[in-house]
Amino acid sequence: MKNISIDRTRAKDFYTNEEFADMLAKAEDARVELLGRMGEGSDFLGWLDLPTDYDRKEFEAIKEAAAKIRRDSDILLVIGIGGSYLGARAAIEYLRHSFYNCGSIARDKHDAPQIYFVGNQISGTYLAELMEVIEGKDWSINVISKSGTTTECSIAFRIFREALENKYGKDGAARRIYATTDRKKGALKTLADAQGYRTFVVPDDVGGRFSVFTAVGLLPIAASGADIDKLMEGAEQAYEVAFNNEGEECTPLVYAALRNLFMEKGKSVEILANYEPSMHYISEWWKQLFGESEGKDGKGIYPASVDLTTDLHSMGQFIQDGTRLMFETILCVDEPREQVVIPEDADDPDGLNYIAGKTMDFVNKNAMEGTMMAHNEGGVPNILIHIPDTTEQSLGELFFFFEFACGVSGYMLGVNPFDQPGVESYKKNMFKLLGKPGY
Ligand code: PA5
Repeated sequence: MKNISIDRTRAKDFYTNEEFADMLAKAEDARVELLGRMGEGSDFLGWLDLPTDYDRKEFEAIKEAAAKIRRDSDILLVIGIGGSYLGARAAIEYLRHSFYNCGSIARDKHDAPQIYFVGNQISGTYLAELMEVIEGKDWSINVISKSGTTTECSIAFRIFREALENKYGKDGAARRIYATTDRKKGALKTLADAQGYRTFVVPDDVGGRFSVFTAVGLLPIAASGADIDKLMEGAEQAYEVAFNNEGEECTPLVYAALRNLFMEKGKSVEILANYEPSMHYISEWWKQLFGESEGKDGKGIYPASVDLTTDLHSMGQFIQDGTRLMFETILCVDEPREQVVIPEDADDPDGLNYIAGKTMDFVNKNAMEGTMMAHNEGGVPNILIHIPDTTEQSLGELFFFFEFACGVSGYMLGVNPFDQPGVESYKKNMFKLLGKPGY
C-alpha cells in the first residue's frame, strides 16, 4: 500500500542542506515533546491515540446509527461549526460524488441521504432556504457541539428541532436526533438526556479541530456511505509513520520542518493548493487546524488556500508577482477517481488536437508542473504532497499526517497548539451587544 509522500524538489533552492538538517532536528525535538506529553496543552492529546485506541463499542454504535439514518432519511442535517463540522464536510466532499446532493445521486450511487451543513454561520436566508429543501422529505439531524453552547449551532438546532417535532411529533423527532457532545456536561447533553436523543461523545481530551476521528466526523461520514473502517486504517498507517519513522522518512516531521524553515526566512503565509475541486473543504479543515493551533502570542504562519487551476485566473497574478511573503504546499492526487480522454476533432476548430487522446488528468498534472515551475521562478518555495488516491485510507492518512505535523509545528513555534483563547473575544462583544445576561 502506498503512503503519502513529500517531494522537496521545488523547495530545495530556498535553503541549504545544513539549514534543513538543523530544522529537522528541531522537529524531532518537538516530536519528543509531543509524544512525551510534556508540552503545553498536553491534557488535549487524546487525538494522538485515536488511530489505534478508540472506543470500539461507540464505533459500532456510530455505524448502526448511520445505517438507520441511511434507511429512514432522504436528508441529514449536520449542525455544527469549526471543528464540529469541517472534517466531516471535507471527507464527504472528497470521498463522494462531486454532485452528491444533486437529484438522486446520493441515494443511487451511495445508498445514502443528501447531507446539508447548517449552524456554521448565522444567516437567516441560508436557514430559511434550507427549510424549503427539506420540505416534504424524511430527514434527521446530527447536532454536534463539544461545549453544547455554541450560538450558531444552538440557534440552528432550536429552529430545526422545532420543525422536526412539528413533522414527526416529540417522540418521533427524538428518534431522528443524534447529538454528539460532551460525555457529561453542557446544555446539549442536558437537553439530549431529557429528550432521549441518541448521544455520541466528544472525548474531554480531544479539541474540536482534532476530532475528525471521533463521532464528530465519523457519524456524518458513515451516513454518507463512506467506509469509516478504511478511514481509520489510513489514520493508523499515518500513525505508524509519525510515531516510528526517523528523519526524512517521517513525513509529518519533514513538513513541519519545511514550514518553520520558510517562516524563519520571512515567508509568513502558507498557501495550500489543490487541483481537485473535491479538496476545497480539505483546505478549509486544514486552515482551521493550523490557524487556530498556531496563530497566537503574535506568532504563526497565516494559512491560506487556493483551488487550482481555477484560482490561477484570480490569485495567480499575486502568487507569481505580488508581495513576496508566501510559500506553497501543493496537494497532488496521484490517481483521481475518474479519467476523461480529450476527443479528436477532425476540423480542430479550437486547436486542441495536440492533446487529443490525452486524459484531463494528464493536462491537469502538466498544469500543476508548469505552475510550480512558474511560482518557483517567482520566488515561491513549493512543497509537493503526493496523495495516492481518493480512497478512505488515503484521506485518513492525510488527516492524521496534518494533525501530527500541526502538533509538532506548533511546539517548534513555541505556542500551545491545543488551545484557542482568541476565539472568545468576538463572542464576548457579540453577547454584550445582544444583551445576554451576565455580559
Ligand atoms: O476547534 C475548536 O475547538 C473549535 O473550532 C470548535 O470546534 C468550534 O468553536 C465549535 O465548538 P463546539 O463544538 O463547542 O460547538
